[in-house]
Amino acid sequence: MKELQARIKQDGQVLGKDVLKVDSFLNHQIDPLLMQRMGEEFYQHFREFPITKILTVESSGIAPAVMTGLAFQKPVVFARKHKSLTLKDDLYVADVYSFTKKTANKISVSRKFLSATDHVLIVDDFLANGQAVAGLTDIIKQADAHLEGIGIVIEKTFQKGRQLIDRQHIPIFSLARIKAFENGQVVFEEE
Ligand code: G4P
Repeated sequence: MKELQARIKQDGQVLGKDVLKVDSFLNHQIDPLLMQRMGEEFYQHFREFPITKILTVESSGIAPAVMTGLAFQKPVVFARKHKSLTLKDDLYVADVYSFTKKTANKISVSRKFLSATDHVLIVDDFLANGQAVAGLTDIIKQADAHLEGIGIVIEKTFQKGRQLIDRQHIPIFSLARIKAFENGQVVFEEE
């Protein structure tokens, strides 16, 4: 997505050798019009798939996922990282290890919102090591639902998430694919 690449070039900050800070439009402040166009891109790509639900994980996946749900006119479910007071039992629970933050999290989804009749599109903000996607995939399996595809806003192709997904032959579509950070600059696959 050219517009997203341009925005990353303009506003993204490279931190160290493998982290891109994009908190001015995606991870903290959110650009709703850009999110809406991203939702439309995911819709155009996956529109022939029989999607019944969009699944993401809080917090930064929610904005692009909601816009994708809007385009599909389907509900959006986000996995929670902390149990809420109203979410006690009847949960699907999976482990997610963050290599970036060096923390282990449990994510959970209420059984009410995912079932064997669902055809799910996962949407997330970053694909790095693929642990968030692996946790969501585990939850979809527990629900006996069908995983139709994965939509990613920013993929870092030099980390191992893509390999994990390709091994399972799941359709994946990323709006921006970064192959390297060189001298503090972003290099895209498509350049
Ligand atoms: P993974 O999910 O692909 O395995 O990623 P990893 O463990 O490496 O990263 C964990 C968290 O860091 C995830 O957010 C992921 O979105 C985020 N992340 C990974 N690479 C980058 C990056 O280059 N830039 C930024 N800004 N974030 C990155 P999270 O813990 O779920 O946080 P949030 O959704 O609550 O913001």
